[in-house]
Amino acid sequence: MVSDWAAVVAGPEAPFQRIARYYDAIYAARGRDPFGEIALLFPAWAADGLDVETRRILDAGCGTGIHLDALGQHGVVEGLDRSRDMLAYARARHPDRPLHLGDFTGFRLESRFNVICCLFGSIGYLPDRTALRRAFSCLGDHLAAGGVLLVEPPVVADALEPPRPQRIETVLEGRPLIRDGSARAVGQSLEIEFTWRHLAGPTEPECTVLERHRMLLLPSDCWLEDMKDALPEGTRLSFESAGPRGRGLFKAVVSPVGGPGTG
Ligand SMILES: C[S@@+](CC[C@H](N)C(=O)[O-])C[C@H]1O[C@@H](n2cnc3c(N)ncnc32)[C@H](O)[C@@H]1O
Repeated sequence: MVSDWAAVVAGPEAPFQRIARYYDAIYAARGRDPFGEIALLFPAWAADGLDVETRRILDAGCGTGIHLDALGQHGVVEGLDRSRDMLAYARARHPDRPLHLGDFTGFRLESRFNVICCLFGSIGYLPDRTALRRAFSCLGDHLAAGGVLLVEPPVVADALEPPRPQRIETVLEGRPLIRDGSARAVGQSLEIEFTWRHLAGPTEPECTVLERHRMLLLPSDCWLEDMKDALPEGTRLSFESAGPRGRGLFKAVVSPVGGPGTG
């Protein structure tokens, strides 16, 4: 582990800047199933009385757009991310979907959404709980009356298992792609370091990228407390420890009347 973590998260778009081109390949190798993940979320909006043409869905922290097609089976989908590089991949694959550059803590879109998903720990990159509350407030402002916000945390502190080194290998563009990862808990943060190696080919040099992530590591009570503080009165909150990938899922359902999207 490198000790200079100040340098890690420098820049508003870190840490995904340099690895966007590897992201989908490495998670496909790890067996990610975006359609299966969305199918597990479906009960959260199944009874909202809307259909695929009337339900508006925002994938907040959409990254490379891995869930956009699966979400598109349930509604009219838009995406938002703060990383230009990740969005470039999403836009290339989904030229017809509105994909916005923006930060959870201060974005402003015209639409109000019946479903907002924030998946795969995307919310965890905020620096502290003040920013987390700001993000929940901003996400809440974009919910239509009766809408649901689904937040998959990176991991909740009460369920953290001792981190262990991890290697994933696959082949990209005919050359081995290898990601070695290690993690450690430091106070209210989870620090993860990945070394990506795309090995040399007949004409291509080896490419190595060191990537570091620092994510919020909070007990589920703190997440719920911050959601309660930031979201409108009358919002129903819950946490289920399984979630789409075993890391939990927070659910907030705003009131069908007098909610933020009614004005
Ligand atoms: C681990 S990726 C998840 C991407 C996608 N949701 C998935 O399931 O693969 C996290 C994404 O969240 C984005 N992100 C992190 N913090 C953000 C913020 N404050 N505002 C908007 N996007 C953010 C990153 O740029 C990155 O694309």
